[in-house]
Amino acid sequence: MAQATFHFPRGFLWGAATASHQVEGNNKNNQWWAWENEPGRILQGHRSGLACDWWGGRWREDFDRAAEGGHNAHRLSVEWSRIQPAPDRWDENALDRYREMIRGLIERGMTPMVSLHHYSDPLWLTERGGWENEAVVSAFEKFVRHVVEALREYVSLWVTINEPNGYAAQGYVTGSMPPGQNNIRLGTQVMINLLRGHAAAYHAIHQIQPQARVGLAINCTSLLPARPWFPLDTLLSKILTRHLVEFFPNTVRDGVARTLLGKRRVPEAKNTQDFLGVNYYTRRHVAFDLREIKTLFARQFFPAGADLSYTGFLANDPQGMFDTLKWGVQFKIPIIITENGVEDPDDRLRPRYLVQHIHQVWRAVNFNYPIKGFFHWTLVDNFEWERGWTQRFGLWELDPETQARRKRPSADLFAEICKENGISSEMVARYAPEVFQKLFPN
Ligand code: BGC
Repeated sequence: MAQATFHFPRGFLWGAATASHQVEGNNKNNQWWAWENEPGRILQGHRSGLACDWWGGRWREDFDRAAEGGHNAHRLSVEWSRIQPAPDRWDENALDRYREMIRGLIERGMTPMVSLHHYSDPLWLTERGGWENEAVVSAFEKFVRHVVEALREYVSLWVTINEPNGYAAQGYVTGSMPPGQNNIRLGTQVMINLLRGHAAAYHAIHQIQPQARVGLAINCTSLLPARPWFPLDTLLSKILTRHLVEFFPNTVRDGVARTLLGKRRVPEAKNTQDFLGVNYYTRRHVAFDLREIKTLFARQFFPAGADLSYTGFLANDPQGMFDTLKWGVQFKIPIIITENGVEDPDDRLRPRYLVQHIHQVWRAVNFNYPIKGFFHWTLVDNFEWERGWTQRFGLWELDPETQARRKRPSADLFAEICKENGISSEMVARYAPEVFQKLFPN
């Protein structure tokens, strides 16, 4: 059997990624909690409820799990609706709690990466029009200043907004997330406000903390034309890629927003990213289809024979990871994989998904692409938005009723990868023998 190890550079960040609303529990003061209470919004009527009960203190045991699992970093988000429960009120106890959690990470040897916005908005903001209203830009900046002042001692790696492209597309095109709209004009307005909110946050953070590293985490679903010979498929996949995946990275480089409704200069956004955050999960095919009126006549699907996840939500397509990283190199800044993972309650697919994706990251590193870290989504099964608890992305299984955790084999596999700072042929032989030949031919 081949004896080989794919090594990563020294100092590479390895960890898991989480988000406040998905793990804390009882986040009653944001728009997601309200959305969960509307009938028909969440699959099977699920609720976030106690989630992983981090707000009740279970972050301690989960951080122990991460540290024992060899993680040297962790990505979490802070909940705006807890820190600023009303426009004129700050909850210093909530900030203390976050300080304690983040100290908890550092004490356990993990570098914190903090997201300032991850899908959830305070209810008071929603009532004032949320991200549709340009007043959000200064409100977000104010919030960011307050948080960064409070956490600056512990954190210097920041994600301003997680998946602004996902927030706009799911909230304003497909309507699967709040506010459940199908309105491209509004969606475009929201994208511009997210962009301006990011830019304001970027400048505020650097003013407070000149050495900070600040970026966005972009949903980088890779899209390919279903029939490469058919111009409409090619055109549609290009348009979608440009307006969904590439919009934010291009605009924060150039300061020019090219939206579906035209071009607009946003000079304050120019050069406002210190790293590119890549959330890569899967690749889809795009076909022109007259029935898909809601989504610009684009039908997205996985090709026949794809290696599908448990509910068919994702396909295991590691080449898409490599192609995404290759695309990311053009921005000439460090790249961090801020999310990658698969929903898989039985841990049937996850071991090979993990090693195949990390193998592609390793390939990219060997082309000298400036990749600095990898965050697995996620540590413990959490509340998966409109899909509720029907999807299980954790290295650890969670029973949300009893709060009991159970380790999946992938947790041990990922621990070995983190501790080795690489993937060895021996690990692949033990955890994912079915892809051994692919990774270590002959
Ligand atoms: C989001 C996470 C989410 C994950 C899996 C990402 O797009 O940032 O919050 O849980 O996908 O669904």
